[in-house]
Amino acid sequence: MNVLDSFRLNGQIALVTGASRGIGAAIANGLGEAGAIVYGIGRSAEMEAPGAFQYRQCDAREAVEVKALLAEIAESHGRFDILVNAAGITLPGNDADPMVSFQSTLELNLTAAYACCLAAVPHMQRNGRGSIINVTSIGAGLGFPGNPGYVASKGGLAAMTRALALDLGGQGIRVNNIVPGYVHTAMTHGSYSDPELNAARAGRTMLGRWGRVEELAGAAVFLASPASSYVTGTDLHVDGGWSAKGL
Ligand SMILES: NC(=O)c1ccc[n+]([C@@H]2O[C@H](COP(=O)([O-])OP(=O)(O)OC[C@H]3O[C@@H](n4cnc5c(N)ncnc54)[C@H](OP(=O)(O)O)[C@@H]3O)[C@@H](O)[C@H]2O)c1
Repeated sequence: MNVLDSFRLNGQIALVTGASRGIGAAIANGLGEAGAIVYGIGRSAEMEAPGAFQYRQCDAREAVEVKALLAEIAESHGRFDILVNAAGITLPGNDADPMVSFQSTLELNLTAAYACCLAAVPHMQRNGRGSIINVTSIGAGLGFPGNPGYVASKGGLAAMTRALALDLGGQGIRVNNIVPGYVHTAMTHGSYSDPELNAARAGRTMLGRWGRVEELAGAAVFLASPASSYVTGTDLHVDGGWSAKGL
């Protein structure tokens, strides 16, 4: 196969969670532009901006609903190929009841991602192939202050990826992490808007700037496509060099 053709996703069917805006929407658009038929879900009634994918209102924590949606998608296309778990929340600084923030964060960022994998895998097994992409964070491997639930959820998600990659590799299903650094979205708008915090985050990278949501799309297309056919159980950092930087 020509190397450029190996990045094409024509005929493949994808679901992206957390696609109403931000990184999930950019990834869903990227997969659509690469030729896949893409469905995106979020709790919002509508997606923030029009995109190259079909948006459905669905809470990723509702395992029964997600399972039914995936069954409907797989049945109507006769296949299902790509799952991207991008839905995520961060709930820093709830000192009054830290357990509430911790459990709510894990419920979506980790438990729901696992439930989505469980719902998607049987359809991928029928194809004899598939790609699962989990959107973790530089917080999966590094300490960040004041938000242990987020760090734990992303560390757990990164570890779950390696476990599932091992369990599913023999069935042609690959599982990988995309590891974003600081990207300007609704989630990070507070620190992006604060000149001091903005400069500190930019200065911590090798490229000296924040990431843009569309810069995550190429990584997702690579991991979803035959271009990465021998890549599984790994972390693809899209962080401007944050994780590799010493001084
Ligand atoms: N931005 C960054 O710098 C950064 C860095 C590292 C990792 N990440 C990760 O990247 C992912 C996307 O984050 P983002 O920055 O794009 O944040 P965002 O703009 O806040 O987007 C989060 C997305 O998740 C969806 N979501 C939240 N709860 C959901 C639920 N229960 N069911 C379904 N969808 C749900 C939101 O849609 P609704 O509100 O409509 O449900 C939205 O589409 C997250 O996993 C985040 O942890 C972001």
